[in-house]
Amino acid sequence: MAILVTGGAGYIGSHTCIELLNAGYEIVVLDYFLNSKPEVINTIKEITQSAFKFYTIDLLDKNSLDKVFLENDIEAVIHFAALKAVGESSYNPLEYYHNNITSTLILCEKMRKYNVKNLVFSSSATVYGVPERCPISEDSPLKAKNPYGRTKLMIEEILQDLYASDKEWSICILRYFNPIGAHQSGLLGEDPNGIPNNLMPYITQVAIGKLKKLNVFGNQYPTNDGTGVRDYIHVVDLAVGHLKALERITFSTGVEVYNLGTGKGYSVLEMITAFEKASGKKIPYKIVESRPGDVAVCYADPEKAEKSLGWTATKGIDEMCKDAWRWQSLNPNGYEKNQERESPYCIPSEDFLIGNK
Ligand code: NAD
Ligand code: WQD
Repeated sequence: MAILVTGGAGYIGSHTCIELLNAGYEIVVLDYFLNSKPEVINTIKEITQSAFKFYTIDLLDKNSLDKVFLENDIEAVIHFAALKAVGESSYNPLEYYHNNITSTLILCEKMRKYNVKNLVFSSSATVYGVPERCPISEDSPLKAKNPYGRTKLMIEEILQDLYASDKEWSICILRYFNPIGAHQSGLLGEDPNGIPNNLMPYITQVAIGKLKKLNVFGNQYPTNDGTGVRDYIHVVDLAVGHLKALERITFSTGVEVYNLGTGKGYSVLEMITAFEKASGKKIPYKIVESRPGDVAVCYADPEKAEKSLGWTATKGIDEMCKDAWRWQSLNPNGYEKNQERESPYCIPSEDFLIGNK
């Protein structure tokens, strides 16, 4: 029995594949490399020294997905695949609604067809919009503020309807806060296309000298130092949360929603200080206008995940910054430079890339 991981070449998916393989799960991975690189697949194999099947498949391509279910004994699906850039989603809403929602509908149709009814879904703290209060618990009002966030909210509702129609489904919706950091090996991390939108990859690219300085978006928020506060969570802690969710859905049915966050908030200036300490690099910055749509403060109440899943974040801000810096400093150009790296576990891409890309 195998776990199908969609979007497994992405930032969070790849770290989750490692935790799954290390825990002894058989995995089948699919991705269409819309926001990731094929090199990641070999890196997962290299780090874990494990083999797994990989399919280059666009989830929007119904027929290819049949192949995955027919060729493998899938027990559960962890569904990461999505487009995730908030700004881009406002310029390109149709692409976001189509890619994120249609692909989830197709995936769920196929799961139903092949009688696979265990699903872990990647949602986001973005579904809380402007939180009424912090820490944010799962029963807080939901109101996404951009098309990306609305795709997550709509999918959550679709999944609730799916369970209401068929009580055999077991669905775990995980609302992630702000994942940062990288695998401890320094071989796997976040590799955004172009100029990063998110704080940590922007900071690491300033530290490595690819970007001149960080623009701090606003210092007039009602926080200790006036800059925005977020709940940063180590990507490996987040990955482990998926294993806990998997354990949970395999012995119960229903739809459950969990926050995956640390419960602690750090301001942008605190993040700069923590990163400077961890890396020994100075981060030049300039205070600029606040970013439209940003909220002042957002951090999780992680108690439900702790009580019901037995999961809690273990890695602190220093480790997150250290690991992010190790990844960036060893890989100044992300996965680009790693193309040359050789490993006995690297299988030539033609042999393991299946599909019609
Ligand atoms: P990512 O972009 O690194 O990974 C997503 C992967 O999905 C990419 O490899 C991409 O190629 C793939 N993909 C997208 N559409 C596809 C399709 N139609 N067919 C096949 N593959 C497709 O993003 P990530 O940071 O790893 O995020 C994973 C999930 O977590 C996403 O659903 C995202 O919305 C959600 N999430 C991310 C964050 C964050 O800050 N990174 C926060 C909250 C929620
Ligand atoms: C963090 C803080 C910024 C960049 C986004 C998505 C959300 C989720 C996670 C997917 C804020 C400040 C940032 C910069 C800055 N993704 N900042 N200068 O906005 O909390 O959430 O990623 O679901 O949906 O909206 O994360 O890392 O962009 O920003 O000052 O160059 O850093 O204003 O206070 P955010 P972020």
